[in-house]
Amino acid sequence: MKVVMPGSFDPFTIGHLDILERAVQLFDQVIVAVGTNSGKRNLIGMERRVELIGQVTAGMAQVSVEAMDGLLVDFCRARGVTVVVRGARSGADFEAEMAMAALNASLGGVETIVLPASATIGYISSSLVRSVALAGGDVSAYVPNTISQALREGVVHG
Ligand code: PNS
Repeated sequence: MKVVMPGSFDPFTIGHLDILERAVQLFDQVIVAVGTNSGKRNLIGMERRVELIGQVTAGMAQVSVEAMDGLLVDFCRARGVTVVVRGARSGADFEAEMAMAALNASLGGVETIVLPASATIGYISSSLVRSVALAGGDVSAYVPNTISQALREGVVHG
């Protein structure tokens, strides 16, 4: 089965990588859909995010990475996908996922599978990593090497 793992991935963290690695154990093909969350401030520009996640997942044959404009359900329909995979770190996350899942089911008949974050890295979020990175802190423990190197080199808004 081919599934979509959507997110804003700004930046892509080791939490995202963990969910992705587990998704490829469960499904034949995973398309990482890099979208824009209108409620969040950008750290890394969309094209650069797609490029960097492509580099992080270069060794994963079942994974492809694409930019997503517009609705997730339209992105899925265009690729013949009916299932999306998301991660949740907490009850609060799960509640937000419930709402998003219901919306995507009603908008386009897309089913959502939520994988619980692995216990040891459940505290990592893109928002926290973003705030550390924007304040000039070291985020290398929370993101794959490719991403922390790019952030050090100043790809912000690239
Ligand atoms: O990593 P995020 O910020 O939780 O990802 C949210 C994202 C990008 C998956 C969501 O905002 C999305 O699907 N955006 C595309 C527009 C859309 O379909 N919105 C309705 C479903 S929430």
